[in-house]
Amino acid sequence: MSFRIQPAAAARPNRCQLFGPGSRPAIFEKMATSAADVINLDLEDSVAPDDKPQARRAIVEAINDIDWGNKYLSVRINGLDTPYWYRDVVEVLEEAGDRIDQIMIPKVGCASDVYAVDALVTAVERAKGRTKPVSLEVIIETAAGIAHVEEIAASSPRLQAMSLGAADFAASMGMQTTGIGGTQEDYYMHREGQKYWSDPWHWAQAAIVAACRTHGVLPVDGPFGDFSDDEGFIAQAKRSATLGMVGKWAIHPKQVTLANEVFTPSEAKVTEAREILAAMEQAKKDGAGAAVYKGRLVDIASIRQAEVIVRQAEMIGG
Ligand code: COA
Ligand code: MG
Repeated sequence: MSFRIQPAAAARPNRCQLFGPGSRPAIFEKMATSAADVINLDLEDSVAPDDKPQARRAIVEAINDIDWGNKYLSVRINGLDTPYWYRDVVEVLEEAGDRIDQIMIPKVGCASDVYAVDALVTAVERAKGRTKPVSLEVIIETAAGIAHVEEIAASSPRLQAMSLGAADFAASMGMQTTGIGGTQEDYYMHREGQKYWSDPWHWAQAAIVAACRTHGVLPVDGPFGDFSDDEGFIAQAKRSATLGMVGKWAIHPKQVTLANEVFTPSEAKVTEAREILAAMEQAKKDGAGAAVYKGRLVDIASIRQAEVIVRQAEMIGG
């Protein structure tokens, strides 16, 4: 038991983060009119090395010129192991106006990676007299990232969100798969001639959620590569939501609706949560700490569980 109060994460919807390559400005307007809560304009792996300078210019123009409505607007910079990342930060923050909300750092391996970007962001903000502080999000997608996940979650007051990046994570871990998230053919239990698939991403997700919740950061599930498989996406997203994640990436526009649906608490869930709160209110009046709701125990911990769902629904509803 700790006397420290668990800090709250940023109170903004983050059900879906829609990605698009910075080198493909033709889709920027479509991203802006999508139903995603967060937009990630990419300078990293969806942009070829020769296209990086052009993509930076396209992103700066898009930030300044496009009406992004109420989207949370993020730019994914290149990793700290590349020669590109410092220019990504400097050019974007020197030249883009205040509409940019966030910078996403990929392949974070330790707290100092975040410190380095924070220092550069802070210097550019001061030099340019920027008044709206830019927040940070990180991707956990290496063995080092998951090994140091807690110190990374605690690394900066700017840090608002942390995603699991399944593809790079699998590569860094030496996993025998080319799948990006979801069920993996060879990861199963076997009994009496039947295969029962397990979830190889589970422990990394749970580690991210624990680190994030300890330090008031939003835990987010990353990409699901097979965008022809809606059922697979939904199953993955539901597992993530059950574990405490607040949203998931879309790497194709058709995934936005799916993510929004899964990460918006259903009316049935919200009604049940409100009924549990009412049952506990009555129990309190009766001087009891526990009650029976639909044949099952509810107690003071149930209030905290129900409040998670009600708060999430209210925040999304605005
Ligand atoms: N955001 C918004 N709109 C998008 C989009 C995106 N990320 N990707 C495609 N579209 C649009 C297309 O322009 C097309 O629009 P139209 O109907 O007006 O012509 C429509 O959605 C259907 O696109 P589709 O033909 O099915 O896909 P595509 O072949 O054009 O592109 C991908 C497929 C995967 C290459 C593309 O979606 C993409 O680049 N995704 C993001 C990749 C990325 O950023 N990766 C980094 C993070 S992992
Ligand atoms: Mg990656």
